[in-house]
Amino acid sequence: MNKNKQLRDSFWHLLCHRTELPESGNFLKLNWLDEEVSLFNDGGEIVVFDNLCPHRGTRFFTKLHGAGAISCPYHGWSYRSGAMHIPCKEQYDQAEISKAGLNFLKSDWCGDFLFVSISPSFTLEEQLGAEFEHLASISFDIGGRSDFDAYTYECDWRIAIENGLEPLHVPYIHADTLGQLNLSDPKNEYTHWNSAVYFSIGDAATHKKMRSIKKLFSIEEQFEGYMSIYLFPFTMLSSTFGYSYSLQNFFPSAEKNKTFFYSRLLNGVAKSPAAADALHHFFASSAAINRQVFKEDHEICKRISPNFYDEGRAKLLSKDEEKIAHFRQCLKKSFV
Ligand code: FES
Ligand SMILES: [Fe+2]
Repeated sequence: MNKNKQLRDSFWHLLCHRTELPESGNFLKLNWLDEEVSLFNDGGEIVVFDNLCPHRGTRFFTKLHGAGAISCPYHGWSYRSGAMHIPCKEQYDQAEISKAGLNFLKSDWCGDFLFVSISPSFTLEEQLGAEFEHLASISFDIGGRSDFDAYTYECDWRIAIENGLEPLHVPYIHADTLGQLNLSDPKNEYTHWNSAVYFSIGDAATHKKMRSIKKLFSIEEQFEGYMSIYLFPFTMLSSTFGYSYSLQNFFPSAEKNKTFFYSRLLNGVAKSPAAADALHHFFASSAAINRQVFKEDHEICKRISPNFYDEGRAKLLSKDEEKIAHFRQCLKKSFV
């Protein structure tokens, strides 16, 4: 089996936060390996499926997110309240039509984070290990989504992930954005499959400003600095002071040197409606900065030679790049 497909199918992937699908009819659609996965709130229950009509394969949703119904425009098949609704049902072979249904994927919750898999090799708890509890606590601090961005990175997904795993490039590539935080040396942590990095913020003015807005939030799990959790294989979750979380998925494409990139900003829970109003600008500017940071990352990732990487020549790693070494070990052990 194709290695990227094997990684997609056998691992759990963080695809959304509960607050992203608050009402019946809300949906999200993501692309991985040129197939799709849809998440849909069906009367309070989140259903996850491959976005294909079981009749003749029409895609149900064409937008990335929004509100709608699982309803096929081609011949009127639909799904609601846990059941398929098929016009002119009597015209079909009755034994076969009685089995027709959506192609559901497996899903499981870590707190309010929804993970999805196709044929998982482990339970979600096993895959997340010691990171499970931490992620669950983070998920309870999130009150909604304020930004959703999606585009194609013109590089292999592993190059994009490795870029996100090292801070060495920050002063060069993000001089006017992330670089302004003047981050400390990294403190890395590892679990079986995942890694995390914690930095304190050296820029005194930013640190002071971040501290001063704490009163506007109702959050329990806070790291007073910049942190980023890497969830093998395709996902990162990063945050400054726990006030918002940037969720990033880097899904492989079936096309060489293309990666489906999804970035969302998940807001921390505000203390009150007035605090939420006061934070509106803060979240909007965080989203704008994140978009700029990812653009900068994409620009440099495009410049990296895929051959240099594939030929195993990208071997010289500094101490600041040790999470890359862990990632490569995880890749190796995922294929034994
Ligand atoms: S393909 Fe969807 S109803 Fe026919
Ligand atoms: Fe970066």
